[in-house]
Amino acid sequence: MVIDKITINLILNIKVKNKIKIAVVGIGLMGSQHLKALSVSKKAKLHSIVDVNKNSITHAKKFKVPFYRSSTELLSNNKPDAVIVATPNQFHEKHTISFLNAKIPVLLEKPISDNISKAKKIIQSSKKNKTHLLIGYHRRHNSIVTKVKKQIDSGNLGKIVAANVMCWLYKNKDWYKEKWRIKKGGGPLGINLVHDIDLICYLLGPITHVQATTSNKIRKYKVEDTAIVNFTFRSGTLCTLSVSDTIVAPYSYELTAGENPAYPITNQSAYFIGGTKGSIQFPNLKHWYNRGERSWWKPIYHKDFNIRLSRFTLINQIDHLCDVVSGKAKPKVSGNDGLQSLKIFDAILRSTKTGKKIRVN
Ligand SMILES: NC(=O)c1ccc[n+]([C@@H]2O[C@H](COP(=O)([O-])OP(=O)(O)OC[C@H]3O[C@@H](n4cnc5c(N)ncnc54)[C@H](O)[C@@H]3O)[C@@H](O)[C@H]2O)c1
Repeated sequence: MVIDKITINLILNIKVKNKIKIAVVGIGLMGSQHLKALSVSKKAKLHSIVDVNKNSITHAKKFKVPFYRSSTELLSNNKPDAVIVATPNQFHEKHTISFLNAKIPVLLEKPISDNISKAKKIIQSSKKNKTHLLIGYHRRHNSIVTKVKKQIDSGNLGKIVAANVMCWLYKNKDWYKEKWRIKKGGGPLGINLVHDIDLICYLLGPITHVQATTSNKIRKYKVEDTAIVNFTFRSGTLCTLSVSDTIVAPYSYELTAGENPAYPITNQSAYFIGGTKGSIQFPNLKHWYNRGERSWWKPIYHKDFNIRLSRFTLINQIDHLCDVVSGKAKPKVSGNDGLQSLKIFDAILRSTKTGKKIRVN
């Protein structure tokens, strides 16, 4: 069959028409990343932009979409198929519930909220309205992470015994010019650790206990600059995670995964997961194992996986949102996953006060 130009245009038009229309609420650091991802997504297109700051109208003009100053204003106009909420954490509850009540699915930036009771209200609203809620832990949409998950679940590594996660990086003086970053919540536990909590739970299952120690010896701000956190998983697996923003090193997911062009990439790993039959490291993905007898006196081999580092996790996440909206998929990161991460984070903060092991409820 010969397809002429008119037919091709017709097909393309149908495809564009069928795209899921997504509004973005809050066009700051993260909201603008979502705008970029939406502009290249094959499944979604930008519906409109919402921000209290009138300067964000420049984005609306650039992408030729309507601009609204509030979610109420958006809802009283042409409704989108879904929204991405990327406003500051303290507004997550108010904004997300307003859309869920209007039966509009929401991809909500992480963390789900700034406190546990608000997070529960968001989840209740999603249930009551039978409307999907997804949380923006975008690392789960990285193809390397998908491969690691498959390796663990397939049993190729045997029983998972332990994991070692590093988040070592150096934040320069300019980063700490913002005053909130030297107060409680602004240090590497609040900024960097939260993504690692979600990822390690995704890979290794529920965490039952945490124990954490912090230090501020290098920067001497009130907030921590370094922390060591021990996790106990329901499966019995033990994990140590160390995070510091005072170490010049290439060992953090940001510097190794290549997801964000803002970070100069290295080919190192930040995650090391060990089982009775083998171990795996990533993002520089390698599977280590013995051939034949398992023994420290036998040669250890490694298999490299030919998976390219992904700069597209935000696009993958948006495409996944489209699949959820059109009923083809269930949320990869649910509201309950977001709540669980928040509970673990809360337990870590409580443990830092006493150094004691805390049960995650
Ligand atoms: N997934 C990630 O890796 C990642 C990275 C950074 C931030 N985040 C998350 O994204 C969210 C936003 O963080 P950010 O760093 O982009 O913040 P930001 O301060 O840069 O931007 C927030 C935007 O929301 C707008 N806003 C504030 N109140 C509003 C309201 N009532 N209605 C509409 N718009 C409003 C502000 O004008 C601003 O444009 C937070 O939840 C944060 O935790 C996620």
